[in-house]
Amino acid sequence: MHKEKQKILIIGSGGREHAIGWKIAQSKEKQNLYFAPGNAGTLELGANVAISATDIPKLVEFAKKEKIDLTLALPDDPLALGIVNAFQAENLRIWGPTKDASELEWSKAYAKDFMKRHKIPTAKYEVFTDFKKAKFFIEKGKLPIVIKASGLALGKGVTVAQTKEEAFKVLEDILVNKIFGSAGNEVVIEEYLSGIEISIHAISDGKNYKMFPSSQDHKRIFDGNVGPNTGGMGVIAPLPFVDKAMMTRIEKEIVAPTIAKMAEEGRPFVGILYPGIMLTAEGPKVFEFNSRFGDPETQAYMRLLETDFIDIVEASLEEKLKDLEIKWKKDTFACNIALASGGYPGSYEKEKVISGVEEAKMQPDIVVFHAGTKIVRQDLTTNGGRVLGVSAIGNTLEEALKKVYKAIEKISFDGMQYRKDIGKSALEIKN
Ligand code: AMP
Ligand code: GLY
Repeated sequence: MHKEKQKILIIGSGGREHAIGWKIAQSKEKQNLYFAPGNAGTLELGANVAISATDIPKLVEFAKKEKIDLTLALPDDPLALGIVNAFQAENLRIWGPTKDASELEWSKAYAKDFMKRHKIPTAKYEVFTDFKKAKFFIEKGKLPIVIKASGLALGKGVTVAQTKEEAFKVLEDILVNKIFGSAGNEVVIEEYLSGIEISIHAISDGKNYKMFPSSQDHKRIFDGNVGPNTGGMGVIAPLPFVDKAMMTRIEKEIVAPTIAKMAEEGRPFVGILYPGIMLTAEGPKVFEFNSRFGDPETQAYMRLLETDFIDIVEASLEEKLKDLEIKWKKDTFACNIALASGGYPGSYEKEKVISGVEEAKMQPDIVVFHAGTKIVRQDLTTNGGRVLGVSAIGNTLEEALKKVYKAIEKISFDGMQYRKDIGKSALEIKN
């Protein structure tokens, strides 16, 4: 299907990018991997290129000069900046949604209007640019109420306000004080959805799609889902409490119409569609769309995936997903726990020496993915908020979690924090 020794450029530097590189390194044909900018883990798989994920002109220049065969655009910012369009304009092969298609993620106002137009289940909402009008809307609304900056705001743009005063303050910060800059020119105010939050991923070639297993991220920093939101502290997949009937319902009511209507509206979606879904008493409802792989969801998916990752990407690019069967490890569960710097998601120090990764890696069924790491004078050190992702697989979720927490005991760095309750609530839910 594809030629030998491709040069593949992976954009990004997180656990997601390391996990995809790790999986590609097992492809049946040998690939030369490049990461821009990568981390200390990706260095073991290929070359790190010192170009930021958002420096699109430099990335284009590099891809041309190095004759890169295929680029994988993974993080949200470059997609929103139109990296796919820029590469395509230069006849460079790149996988990911175009700027128009990824608007589902980078404009919450656009995503909400899209869902309303096509009757895709989501929370009731209004979009505002005017502070007074928004305030009036909140005054007559119910509590809690959810306020969202429409644009990309580093995962910090959403507030679930418990009081009207809190809601007014957030509104003022976004619309008047512009704490998120132009990402807060528009604000979505929506109804609070109560239920269980899950992650769904589907890969699309613009026309057809294939569903991935269900997964669940744990976004808050502390055990028991308290404290501020993070990029994601731990994931489990597949979810024991999400049955086939629910997956079919999500596919029919959410994924299928989204892919079909994006194509109909002239924005065919090529890449990963990742709706965040709340399982409410009234059924599954979308609370956000992402136009890319989740992090840490990807780390769990790569541990479960059997099919060659490059075959999947090629099928997505060639509009051949209909003919591809994506295979997942049978009767297997995966988990991935983030080890974070002390202080994260607030400010934190860097360059703390990390010990024990090699020992952790030797434990059965463990793979350690790097996120914020770098080598300083031959030492592995911290270089970000989420530092490492320790993953395990097992025949049950309990088994995978037991293995992962045992392996984590081997690893330490100054200030290291992680959640001890990943998967706990999932195990408590009766099917
Ligand atoms: P996001 O930054 O878009 O991932 O949203 C952050 C978190 O806000 C989500 O993980 C949800 O827990 C929560 N959230 C977003 N929208 C709603 C909603 N309408 N009702 C309840 N919670 C929500
Ligand atoms: N899992 C959270 C995110 O990727 O946005």
